[in-house]
Amino acid sequence: LALHKVIMVGSGGVGKSALTLQFMYDEFVEDYEPTKADSYRKKVVLDGEEVQIDILDTAGQEDYAAIRDNYFRSGEGFLLVFSITEHESFTATVEFRQSLIYTMETGGGKKMHLSCAGREQILRVKAEEDKIPLLVVGNKSDLEERRQVSVDEARGKAEEWGVQYVETSAKTRANVDKVFFDLMREVRGK
Ligand code: GTP
Ligand code: MG
Repeated sequence: LALHKVIMVGSGGVGKSALTLQFMYDEFVEDYEPTKADSYRKKVVLDGEEVQIDILDTAGQEDYAAIRDNYFRSGEGFLLVFSITEHESFTATVEFRQSLIYTMETGGGKKMHLSCAGREQILRVKAEEDKIPLLVVGNKSDLEERRQVSVDEARGKAEEWGVQYVETSAKTRANVDKVFFDLMREVRGK
């Protein structure tokens, strides 16, 4: 049985847990309880083949940053989530991406010793040679009236990174299956 390890990444409150729980249990959770780290496992049929998906739902809140970065290493694919209602959470995707690429490249150990330029260099090489399966997810698409990030802006960033941009709603379930399945396809195709 093929196993795909997926990690939820992004700022606090953007809906990483809500997306995970909607995917796992077909339920929308209204309450906000900040996550430390939770893992889930589910058998699904991916293009006719039974596979297992392991989802690690990480913390967006900065209090838990140290725990979070250590987990990045164990991922094969990443959903990089922001909320379309909070521009700051979109800006933060840049840092989350750097952090996860960097952690995967170095194993997380050597961070302090590298200059900014060295770090950029590694990111560039990593991005070109060994693309990490990643989707940029703009969540809370049901809150159109509160939108702060345009589709064009988000798509532009995703294009720059050579990845897909998809808008989801953990509330209405729009595109929830799509982001998990598309990511599993990318992980499988690697
Ligand atoms: P951390 O665990 O702190 O990193 O946050 P998180 O990204 O897991 O956010 P969480 O899933 O807990 O959602 C935060 C709040 O936003 C909750 O009150 C959710 O009900 C709400 N929420 C999440 N996704 C959606 C969505 O698609 N639409 C709407 N309207 N609300 C959402
Ligand atoms: Mg959470």
